[in-house]
Amino acid sequence: MKNILVTGGAGFIGSHTCVELLNENYNIVILDNLSNSKEGAIERIKTITGKEVKFYKVDLMNLFETEKVFEENQIDAVIHFAGFKAVGESVQKPLEYYENNIGGTFNLIKAMKKYNVKNIVFSSSATVYGVNNKVPYTEDMPTSATNPYGYTKVMIEQILSDIAVSEPEWSIVALRYFNPIGAHESGLIGENPNGIPNNLVPYIAQVALGKLDALRVFGDDYATPDGTGVRDYIHVTDLAKGHLAALKYVEGNPGFQPINLGTGKGSSVLEVLHAYEKACGKELPYNVTPRRAGDIAESYAQTGLAKKLLNWEAKLDIEKMCQDSWNFTIKNPEGM
Ligand code: WQD
Repeated sequence: MKNILVTGGAGFIGSHTCVELLNENYNIVILDNLSNSKEGAIERIKTITGKEVKFYKVDLMNLFETEKVFEENQIDAVIHFAGFKAVGESVQKPLEYYENNIGGTFNLIKAMKKYNVKNIVFSSSATVYGVNNKVPYTEDMPTSATNPYGYTKVMIEQILSDIAVSEPEWSIVALRYFNPIGAHESGLIGENPNGIPNNLVPYIAQVALGKLDALRVFGDDYATPDGTGVRDYIHVTDLAKGHLAALKYVEGNPGFQPINLGTGKGSSVLEVLHAYEKACGKELPYNVTPRRAGDIAESYAQTGLAKKLLNWEAKLDIEKMCQDSWNFTIKNPEGM
């Protein structure tokens, strides 16, 4: 299985996964509409790996253009990243999120069926564990969501699971990411959010750069060791390597299988902040503010299934994640 279609391959996790695919001598075709990424990321993928990449600026909502990518390439498997992913924005624009994330997946699946491609790794999220499950999260727990973005992940997992029942020759893995952070060690690709970052580490990076005054710590009254929110942060390169392991797994394992990609270790907001201070060599100011609506106290993975089925586990620690994030930030102060 050599030719891999990567939808959303110019994005944060997609671009890092493309680097690892090329390093393992896969041929890749990137399909991306560049709505939340830049074509420059693709040039940088080529620079890092010294390999060629086929790129199609295509929106999955355009079935004709999507099918053309399959028509022109012998695709063996798909890694599906393309989708809107901002929680807050999804609350403001639910229809756009449902149409784009679910409608785009419908078109991708239709094109795969037409060209007899039945292996897919889907970019899901720990957000599907909702607010009623107890940590550490395991893949057999019930899924739910608290926002339209989360519901698109829950619904797409359900759609893929139903396809695997109706057409048993499909091999489908849904990778449930915890909190991906960091950047490729070259500093050439990394997290490149538009505007004021919603997520913790890109926000801290802007404080360290001096572009934002201070970190707002959203609540220090949670039932956690230091009162601040605890999450399972995972280096984006570890996450990318998890996709290669999942790609090998789908080659010989029909059915639908959700799998956690996390470290199994929780870190608090203040622990991450201090790790970032060590990485950038500066004291970083913060203010404690009220909790952010919708936030939970703790989220971290039970990682046994990834080890058992994929023989994969995260290797890089929070210090390395912050070092690589800072390295990317100082090399790209205006973003990529
Ligand atoms: C982490 C911790 C905040 C920002 C989100 C999405 C999830 C997934 C990953 C896509 C929390 C605290 C944050 C800040 C803060 N994305 N925080 N100040 O909310 O765990 O997950 O990103 O799949 O779907 O929900 O990540 O980085 O926003 O927050 O104190 O300025 O940092 O309260 O405890 P989250 P996050």
